[in-house]
Amino acid sequence: MSKDLSLDTRYMKGFVKPAEIKEIMPDVEKAHFMLEKKNGPGNGYLGWMDLPTGTCECLVREIEETAAHMRAISDAVIVVGIGGSYLGAKAAIEMLTPEFVGRKVFFAGHNLSASYLNGLLMSLKDKEVTVNVISKSGGTTEPAIAFRIIEAFVEKKYGKENAAKRIVCTTDAAKGTLKELADKRGYKTLVIPDDVGGRFSVLTPVGLLPIACAGIDIRELLGGAASARERSFSMDLEANPCYMYAALRNLLLRKGKKIEILSNFDGRFHYLAEWWKQLFGESEGKGGKGIFPAACDFTTDLHSIGQLIQDGERNIFETFLIAEKEDRDFVIPQSDDDLDNLNYLSGKSEGAINFKAYQAVAEAHFEGGVPNSSVIVDNISPRSLGQLFYFFEKAAAVSGYILGVNPFDQPGVEAYKKKMFKLLGKPGV
Ligand code: PA5
Repeated sequence: MSKDLSLDTRYMKGFVKPAEIKEIMPDVEKAHFMLEKKNGPGNGYLGWMDLPTGTCECLVREIEETAAHMRAISDAVIVVGIGGSYLGAKAAIEMLTPEFVGRKVFFAGHNLSASYLNGLLMSLKDKEVTVNVISKSGGTTEPAIAFRIIEAFVEKKYGKENAAKRIVCTTDAAKGTLKELADKRGYKTLVIPDDVGGRFSVLTPVGLLPIACAGIDIRELLGGAASARERSFSMDLEANPCYMYAALRNLLLRKGKKIEILSNFDGRFHYLAEWWKQLFGESEGKGGKGIFPAACDFTTDLHSIGQLIQDGERNIFETFLIAEKEDRDFVIPQSDDDLDNLNYLSGKSEGAINFKAYQAVAEAHFEGGVPNSSVIVDNISPRSLGQLFYFFEKAAAVSGYILGVNPFDQPGVEAYKKKMFKLLGKPGV
């Protein structure tokens, strides 16, 4: 069994005092009880809290069987969705499947780039494809446009009747344009529960089907999330990294640290940070409040915005995302002439060198005035990812309540849509 997720807070020293953690405890408790008693703002959207333990075996099996069938009849599964209907699956697949060979799942509908969609469909011209279109509301413009084009592509390839057998819709149980369309055309549907909002939906069929289509073990993912859930109730912050993280980020914000950077030392975490940005940005950024969620890929970004982090305006705090074990390591070979002066490293693994880089960066940023903590998981695995998903979801909920916002709505997302619909001449706008 792998080690549980932990939070290393050594480099908060001096920035957050133990007395301040005591002072914020009533806010943490209040947030905790708003979630437990389901009486806080947005309390109609707390279904995510019990997904790791409450998801029915029959649904897990249905998802596994659907995924196995889609994998068997296709070279490529096109997943169509945006925001919460895209980022969780993208994060999991980028983290847990090899970068360079044999990807089976491709994404569309997460932008309005004609060139992207064109390139994707051209590359799949001679391949067998299946499609999973995902939209809770059923009417989001970007995936709706992509799906109309992809549906025509699949119908042209297989004919209407056979195409219908290759399309799965993940949407509301009863309402919305996509549900209506799926029923009329005879597409298989999977349900997004009413009480789970987009950015909290990765452990519903929204995330689980594409993740299973990529060949990832969704039971391990749910198991990891269940273990993070189990540890997320304690009021002893030393035993509950989730509440500690939520408390620390609010204390830092109160001291003017308005930007949080989620930094990794393994590119496989890149899209998890994109998922995290949406989770915290949409949950907290409202009513003139919020912490700006940014992300860095290290050591790459140490050679770019590393300068600003070390030495720029001191309005930043940082959270490192660390996997302790490197699973595909290299050992630095010995060189006879040592012309590159690297023999002092020979015999060491690249993973160990990367870990030293992380330790050096955490200390240097701390000394430069950037308080930082580290969210540490054992390894890159479905179980660790499940822990991370749940850890951050619950932290976003508690942190949002501490901040005094409704973490489960996103009123600001509508503003651009209204303008765009007006410009496009949408009937009724
Ligand atoms: O978190 C959210 O609610 C949003 O980001 C949605 O997930 C996103 O807008 C996509 O919405 P839908 O699934 O309704 O197409």
